[in-house]
Amino acid sequence: MANKIIFPENFIWGAATASYQIEGAWNKHGKGESIWDRFSHTPGKILNDENGDIANDHYHLWKKDIGLMKKMGLQAYRFSIAWPRILPRGRGRINHKGIDFYNKLVDGLLTAGITPFATLYHWDLPQALEDEGGWTVRSTTDAFVEYTDVISRALGDRVKNWITHNEPSVASWLGYEMGIHAPGVVDTTHALATRAAHHILLSHGMAVPVIRRNSANSEVGITLNSNWNVAASNSAMDLDAVRRGEGKWVRWFADPLYGRGYPSDIVEDFRHLGAFPNGMDFVQDGDLKTIAVPTDFLGVNFYNRGVVRVDDPNNEPQTVFSKPKTPEHWTEMDWEVYPDGLLNVLGRYYFDYQPLKLYITENGASYSTPPDENGNVPDVHRTNYLRTHFAAANRAIQAGIPLAGYFVWSLMDNYEWSFGFSQRFGIVWVDYETQNRILKDSAKWYKGVIKKNGF
Ligand code: FCB
Repeated sequence: MANKIIFPENFIWGAATASYQIEGAWNKHGKGESIWDRFSHTPGKILNDENGDIANDHYHLWKKDIGLMKKMGLQAYRFSIAWPRILPRGRGRINHKGIDFYNKLVDGLLTAGITPFATLYHWDLPQALEDEGGWTVRSTTDAFVEYTDVISRALGDRVKNWITHNEPSVASWLGYEMGIHAPGVVDTTHALATRAAHHILLSHGMAVPVIRRNSANSEVGITLNSNWNVAASNSAMDLDAVRRGEGKWVRWFADPLYGRGYPSDIVEDFRHLGAFPNGMDFVQDGDLKTIAVPTDFLGVNFYNRGVVRVDDPNNEPQTVFSKPKTPEHWTEMDWEVYPDGLLNVLGRYYFDYQPLKLYITENGASYSTPPDENGNVPDVHRTNYLRTHFAAANRAIQAGIPLAGYFVWSLMDNYEWSFGFSQRFGIVWVDYETQNRILKDSAKWYKGVIKKNGF
């Protein structure tokens, strides 16, 4: 048994979700269509053609879900707001019933003593905006500011922790290059995806002052994700694959956010792919300054390590499986369990970019362990995953990294994007037929960690 691991006094323990993954009620009470509604309703896009029409029905069961959080002793809850619930067409007419929902949720959380952390964009863009080009067009940034203004006015007296965007890299590259996330654009030149990425970053920079204006004494940040990527060998090709991958997924976003502009080596990589036929004409005067607006924290999502190998310069890097394929080493997403990667990623973001503080806004594991005959869910592999990652986070704090809190992904099993309901990340089991919820053993263990502020 490891020595006792104790966290700093004000450390915040929470759990996270995202609107499309749990809310359901996709067309209720005036909500507009989102790109995820459209994408998941398109045959062939999602495993088993599953969609989030109902999902966890959290839109109706939010009280019960706050009850679960309370039972676990959660101190904070990170959720996202569905933009098309607030502005069904992305801009213009406000849907007050949508605002009511988040008002009730926030009041319920506060009554339960749980601090709300609201994410403005966790990928459910209003379809009406996508019809005009979505994130590839600049006008979407103005719509995002309009939405930010409406919702931060409505909730800003009570919500004091705001995250503008969740994982802009995934929204850009999976949505507008690889096409495996909504809106499903495939364009390997990266011409559209680099535009999308720029507009997402720009919208962040434009939104931060609006939130500060509408929500006094609040803290604002953005959430980036990162695997811990290493080369499978010292070959020039493997090392270059790490540079390219890390540059595209991390530096392309973190560099401009922290005032360095776009990384020149990746600009060259993209140029070779044909991304900039007219140069980077979408970057206008002042944009980089807007993007580099100071923030209060950086959110970090971490899941796994990637060991990359390239056997041919024309091939995409492959992930190498370095450990036995057993559940303690690999989750059901086929993601390697590598807790030191969390320490490394936190260190990399902190020592390189110097954010004032950091939160782990997501970390967790997919294991499908079902309830046993006594109604318990003995998800030992998830508990081990969390324990080893909490320990790594603690080492980061010992190393001087100002880590302020930890949000487990996820509060409950939910709709895992293109994987549909096949991947279960929750510390709460969800029966999608009955909408019954059960605290898994990992949730019971987590409750003890929160109580003792360590383990
Ligand atoms: C992250 C997403 C989150 C969830 C986890 C598993 O990239 O932000 O919604 O899907 O992965």
